[in-house]
Amino acid sequence: MHPSNEQWLTFHNAFRRRTGLDLAHYKQDQLRRRIVSMAETRGCKSLEEFWALLSASEKDLRWFQDKLAINVSELFRNPEKWEELRRRVLPELLGRSRSLKCWSAGCSYGAEAYSLAMTLDAWFPGAHSILGTDIDQAALAQANKGVFHDNDVRGVPEELKRRYLRRTEAGWEADPRLRRYLSFRNGDLLADRFDQGYDLILCRNVVIYFNDEAKDRLYRKFFQALKPGGVLFVGSTERIFNSQTIGFESTMPFFYRKPLGDLAWRNAS
Ligand SMILES: C[S@@+](CC[C@H](N)C(=O)[O-])C[C@H]1O[C@@H](n2cnc3c(N)ncnc32)[C@H](O)[C@@H]1O
Repeated sequence: MHPSNEQWLTFHNAFRRRTGLDLAHYKQDQLRRRIVSMAETRGCKSLEEFWALLSASEKDLRWFQDKLAINVSELFRNPEKWEELRRRVLPELLGRSRSLKCWSAGCSYGAEAYSLAMTLDAWFPGAHSILGTDIDQAALAQANKGVFHDNDVRGVPEELKRRYLRRTEAGWEADPRLRRYLSFRNGDLLADRFDQGYDLILCRNVVIYFNDEAKDRLYRKFFQALKPGGVLFVGSTERIFNSQTIGFESTMPFFYRKPLGDLAWRNAS
């Protein structure tokens, strides 16, 4: 299948009208390859035929959206970064706010949000909140259950595993008491207005699908959404090349801080 640019445009427009999601923000080569492969898996010979199939059934449309959003994750992904978060970033944030407002943006099935909940509960218990958002409904439903597979738990420090995870028939069940920190909801990072006043935003392994313009807009919106002194934690293969232009300070690789100076500026204005 080799759709023309016009056929792609028609497909994107129809998809946007129906779901509100704008595929134009994603890296096109990668996206097109994935869509063609999905269409062929379903036996379609053209994009028109694929859209006819998807638009005829909510279930198929959901399947497509969920497949589109690759939601690979695991608890304590890149453990050495979580160690830095615990040893250096969280104590600094807690020096300014006793209760942290945190956001796992593109949370998939919740592994990142639960990792943060375990870390906070074990070392810095308090009235913290952790919001997880994603466009993938199936992943969010899984996040709400708080059950993980064997592959998800391999990076969990032994003492946290003993304390917060229980092996059941369904998998590794997270301690329900962690739920007091957590909430999950649907959210599109490319379209939504963001809440403000976050101490910590985690957005890891999400922007790999976005084009440069979408990434830049997103990082600027994260900057606005952080409190002065608040920190953005990105994935281990990600770097914000124009971080200084946006206003971030980068004190350690993969952690970007909104300067405290902003606070002085705000108070003075
Ligand atoms: C590879 S997972 C990353 C999960 C987790 N942050 C981690 O690092 O383990 C990427 C997630 O980004 C989500 N995603 C993709 N586009 C999105 C968008 N526009 N808004 C919100 N989430 C999005 C996908 O649904 C998927 O669950």
